[in-house]
Amino acid sequence: MFTEAQLYSPVTRSGDGDVMVHLSDEHPGVHDPDYRARRNAIAALALDYAPGKSLPQIDYTDEEQQVWRIVSAELARKHQKYAATEVLAAAARLDLPSDHIPQLDEVSAALVPLTGFRYVPAAGLVPLREFFGSFADRTFHSTQYIRHHSAPLYTPEPDAIHEIIGHANQIASLRFAAIYEAVGAAVARLTTETALKFLADVFWFSMEFGVVRENGEIRCYGAGLLSSYGEIEEFQHAELRPLDVATMGTAVYDITHYQPILYCAQSISEIEDVIGGFFASMDDDSPHRVLHTAGRM
Ligand SMILES: [Fe+2]
Repeated sequence: MFTEAQLYSPVTRSGDGDVMVHLSDEHPGVHDPDYRARRNAIAALALDYAPGKSLPQIDYTDEEQQVWRIVSAELARKHQKYAATEVLAAAARLDLPSDHIPQLDEVSAALVPLTGFRYVPAAGLVPLREFFGSFADRTFHSTQYIRHHSAPLYTPEPDAIHEIIGHANQIASLRFAAIYEAVGAAVARLTTETALKFLADVFWFSMEFGVVRENGEIRCYGAGLLSSYGEIEEFQHAELRPLDVATMGTAVYDITHYQPILYCAQSISEIEDVIGGFFASMDDDSPHRVLHTAGRM
């Protein structure tokens, strides 16, 4: 089931300034008052952040650090077996700490020399235009909370483990970073919600859930797969289809269920050509054009 790390918990701020993260009834931390208070406090720090201010420093608890250590070690093992070579090489250069949760400025300090990307805080869901648009400035909005300690290998939302172990290891590749930047540049040209949604869906099936064939094996490069202990092996059972922007941008998918179809590239170069090339020239009319060319409109 590709249910992990995709649904953000809504964050609200009341008239008197209290910040509340609304966890779903199924969330592992929903009945833990300490965890809920912690989530509210971390979200409040992100909401108070503004460009030019120093990044919020989270004083992570031993429990949170222990979750990071467990997941880091488990995912590192899985990556050796299932991650694309391009990601493994980037991860080796980035060299994220496995013994503590890096603060966002620590992530940026490691990423900037490699690809120029820096991390800024997000309380929860960032509007699509802002989230994807900021890639043009090589900026990535990242949550800072950690999943509940009762289930270290599972999270229903994108926590710091998804943002950092999933995305930062990917963005540490110059080739993937260039695709992110092309996404950001495309957003600046888009005016319609339809086109923005199309962009987000192509991104979903590539940079979040993409796989690539390497030496006869299927390996993952998507951040959603890279950060997901439970699901990283599941793609071996998915139906694999060739890269096709028209289909990827319009596929109806249910993020709460197993993704039965994934899009498999033949090489990183093919991802750059087909996905990167699409983003590089995308405008409001692109969805119509690619569907027309594919004979679907
Ligand atoms: Fe993500």
